[in-house]
Amino acid sequence: MPQHEVVLVLDFGSQYNQLIARRVRENKVFSMIVSHDITAEEIRRMSPKGLILSGGPASIYGARAPKPKKEIFELGIPVLGICYGMQAMAHMLGGKVTKARKREYGHAELIIDDFEDLFDGLDNKIISWMSHGDFVSKLPAGFKKIGHTDNTEFAAIADRTRRLYGVQFHPEVAHTPKGSRIIANFLCNICRCQGNWTMQSFIDDTIKNIKNKVGKDKVVCGLSGGVDSSVAAVLINRAIGKRLICIFINNGVLRKGEAERVVKTFKKHFHINLKYVNSESRFLKKLKGVIDPEKKRKIIGHEFIRVFEEEAKKLGKIGFLAQGTLYPDVIESRSAFGGPSATIKSHHNVGGLPLNMKLKLVEPLRELFKDEVRLVGKAMGLSDEIVQRQPFPGPGLAIRVIGDITRERLDILREADVVVLEEIKKAGFYREVWQSFAVLLPIKTVGVMGDERTYENVIALRAVTSADGMTADWARLPYDLLERISNRIINEVRGVNRVVYDISSKPPSTIEWE
Ligand code: XMP
Repeated sequence: MPQHEVVLVLDFGSQYNQLIARRVRENKVFSMIVSHDITAEEIRRMSPKGLILSGGPASIYGARAPKPKKEIFELGIPVLGICYGMQAMAHMLGGKVTKARKREYGHAELIIDDFEDLFDGLDNKIISWMSHGDFVSKLPAGFKKIGHTDNTEFAAIADRTRRLYGVQFHPEVAHTPKGSRIIANFLCNICRCQGNWTMQSFIDDTIKNIKNKVGKDKVVCGLSGGVDSSVAAVLINRAIGKRLICIFINNGVLRKGEAERVVKTFKKHFHINLKYVNSESRFLKKLKGVIDPEKKRKIIGHEFIRVFEEEAKKLGKIGFLAQGTLYPDVIESRSAFGGPSATIKSHHNVGGLPLNMKLKLVEPLRELFKDEVRLVGKAMGLSDEIVQRQPFPGPGLAIRVIGDITRERLDILREADVVVLEEIKKAGFYREVWQSFAVLLPIKTVGVMGDERTYENVIALRAVTSADGMTADWARLPYDLLERISNRIINEVRGVNRVVYDISSKPPSTIEWE
């Protein structure tokens, strides 16, 4: 149970749920996303300072419309209903919701009628973001209008006695520029939150919790060198010291210098009990002649688990397995809406759960969003090089050497990859783009070097902007940067005589080439 102030976000299926939770946390109030039909009793047990009912795609009159339990409005806990959340609240409390002839979608000018609490400190008119079909046409008893737009009479409503509030627009999105203030007002003026959830308090609580949970047992952790497993390892190490054993497996498809970097950081700097396992040959043997991307992924995933289990066995009795699971994974895996989407690529996370080890789990990051994990990492002394890292796929360079994987081809890609990273970083684009990397293509092209004809490899350069990796656009990198990268790769990397730039977006392409 949380030891700090918490606000619950009831999930009615909005694509903005996680955004709401993050906006709350930006105010140093912990937030959790819970199912829309959570009972009053369950809520009481968690003693939240406030409830936010999210938006959602349904219509309240739809056959399968998700509805909150009516009793939650009688708990005396402040409620803010957003869009569908407001309609659901109005409907449950005796108001009326009507189907609009036309969906309202986009910016709308909100005229504020009452500045007492929710809209404290705002101008008379603000830009709000609307996306709804239904609207509240009659207020439930006790409510009054506190804001309207040209189209929507009850764009914001309040029942101050019961501390129930509703907004038809979305304060959580950037398209409502003053939305953060509205959420801050709800937390501060209405829920009376102090804002005591800081990264330091998170670290202190988590270390305490890990100690309690693990007791005298040992914990094993698969370290990948990525942000999540690194931060998890450092946190657990702080809690239980040498009883955490990290296993770092060199799967043969790592970037240049990665293994040395990980050993140096975690063993030398953080004094973590780290076991470095060099399985390069073993993985490369399995990958020999494999062309199919999904097969590559499966082989690497399976082999990783096998090596991990073999190594873990050598450690004697182990009680727990540490994992860098994040909050979005937790929410998505239990979301009642949206169902699983089609598998485009089987994203085997290296470090995935070894299935038959029968270990209990320690997941110190399962309440955090990625940007919060970075803050924790930073506060624990991890360098920017680790906490600000671009995502790197579990199957590593295996899915960036298109076609057959050999040591020689991996080495060519590694050298090109170094150039890309160096130049992107030097030009200040590393954090601006979501990912930037080189891909080695399975074709050769003709070139001319001096007076000689060459017949060599092609490197594709891929750089994308993205918010979450689900959709992406190719990055408009400056021509001179592209030129430097191309020149350096062709001059410095033996076996490459051509560089091309990938200008496809996702969808319909994907970020990785395989
Ligand atoms: P795609 O290529 O599907 O990639 O657009 C989306 C994001 O996921 C990463 N990616 C993977 N990560 N195992 C991983 O752990 C995988 O098999 C895998 N394939 C792609 C990719 O780098 C991008 O960030």
